[in-house]
Amino acid sequence: MTAQTSDRWVVSPVRSVTGQVGVPGDKSVSHRALMLGGIADGVTTVEGFLESEDCLATLKALRALGVSIEQPSASCVRIQGVGIEGLRGTEQPLDMGNAGTAMRLFMGLLTSQNFDSILVGDQSLMRRPMERAAAPLRLMGARIETRDGKPPVVIRGTPALRGIDFKMPMASAQVKSAVILAALRGSGVTQVTEPAPTRDHTERMLACFGVELQREGPTVSLQGGQRLRGAHVSVPGDFSSAAFFLVAGCIAEAREIELRGVGMNPTRTGLLDILRLMGADITVSNLATRGPEPTADLRIRPSKLRGIDVPLELVPLAIDEFPIFFIAAACAHGRSLLRGAEELRVKESDRLATMSEGLTALGVPHRLLADGMQLDGRGGPGPVFQAGRIDSRGDHRIAMSFAVASLQAGGEIEILDTANVATSFPGFAGLARELGLNLRDGATGVRTSG
Ligand code: S3P
Repeated sequence: MTAQTSDRWVVSPVRSVTGQVGVPGDKSVSHRALMLGGIADGVTTVEGFLESEDCLATLKALRALGVSIEQPSASCVRIQGVGIEGLRGTEQPLDMGNAGTAMRLFMGLLTSQNFDSILVGDQSLMRRPMERAAAPLRLMGARIETRDGKPPVVIRGTPALRGIDFKMPMASAQVKSAVILAALRGSGVTQVTEPAPTRDHTERMLACFGVELQREGPTVSLQGGQRLRGAHVSVPGDFSSAAFFLVAGCIAEAREIELRGVGMNPTRTGLLDILRLMGADITVSNLATRGPEPTADLRIRPSKLRGIDVPLELVPLAIDEFPIFFIAAACAHGRSLLRGAEELRVKESDRLATMSEGLTALGVPHRLLADGMQLDGRGGPGPVFQAGRIDSRGDHRIAMSFAVASLQAGGEIEILDTANVATSFPGFAGLARELGLNLRDGATGVRTSG
């Protein structure tokens, strides 16, 4: 894996970015490819795999559960599936690192086994809510304990789960996926209804593995007792990684960038809609379908952005992109308002609070709300962000967002606690420099590899 050797960045102002690059594989799709491959009959090959710390936590956990996985190259994985009843228990707690997706999806997968499991994670993950997944699984007959609603998650394997009709109280693809994975071994039909559309990678990928699912409006249903057939999975570029460069291209003052092979699943591209509403100059070309997911190339040019009220229905479709949206909104002319985004409080950090602290440090006027933020964009010309120091609180997306702010900064931005960028985008620093950002390893003044 490419090392992210620095845990502190210093980013100096530049005014343009340029180049044609691909972004690394999608994190959500990579987790799911490993898990479904692990419980399928026969071999699964994954191309475009994201070799990041989060996905490697899933890979290691599957190996500990008896799945044989080869990785002939960084982005290529070959899984010898053990079949839906073939996982083996382990005495050791399974360490999910920083990955909420790994923990919640494994809850669904492991609850129907004939062995017990314990799931733990890093400091951030040990603070995150797990009852949202445990509660519906208990309705299916699962025996799961959390500590004050948080990890460690102790799972007493219960092979005899029953199907449920579950109406999700919050829009969460992780909760939906946990229930769907448990339902694969349940009796009868399971139905999950979402309050708003969320990413549908699990449903799309299960279909590739030969599982029959029905979707009717907001409800997904499947019959328990289905087996998975090993498949070839092509992982698209991660739209959430592309997002940093979409905003970089818009707020730059000159030149343009092209991003190739970006995942265009409409349940993920809410930020593209938001940026277009703000007046962004982004062209989509070469739309194609790679396995279960659509991809395209995106060309981004400097844009005069306008502040907007983010439409509520776009919030779950852009849920990981609000840190970088706030950077775009600060560079727009006029006021922007985000509401209905209280989920941001329980991500890798409290993203509303962490972004608010950072925006304050860089002199951006805004008002923090319980479920969002109101922000007064400065527009141009002239720097939008003053020099300052940001504590990313170990949140990868916060660190990358403030690196992009250097395109409209009046002086150096120092970003602390950046090591977790390796959880989703190990090559970010290298790619950002390739496109023209002036990002240095703050500890040594030497540019990090990656
Ligand atoms: C994810 C779902 C989202 C998202 C996370 C990845 C997934 O979380 O924020 O980064 O892969 O299913 P929620 O389900 O908590 O919204």
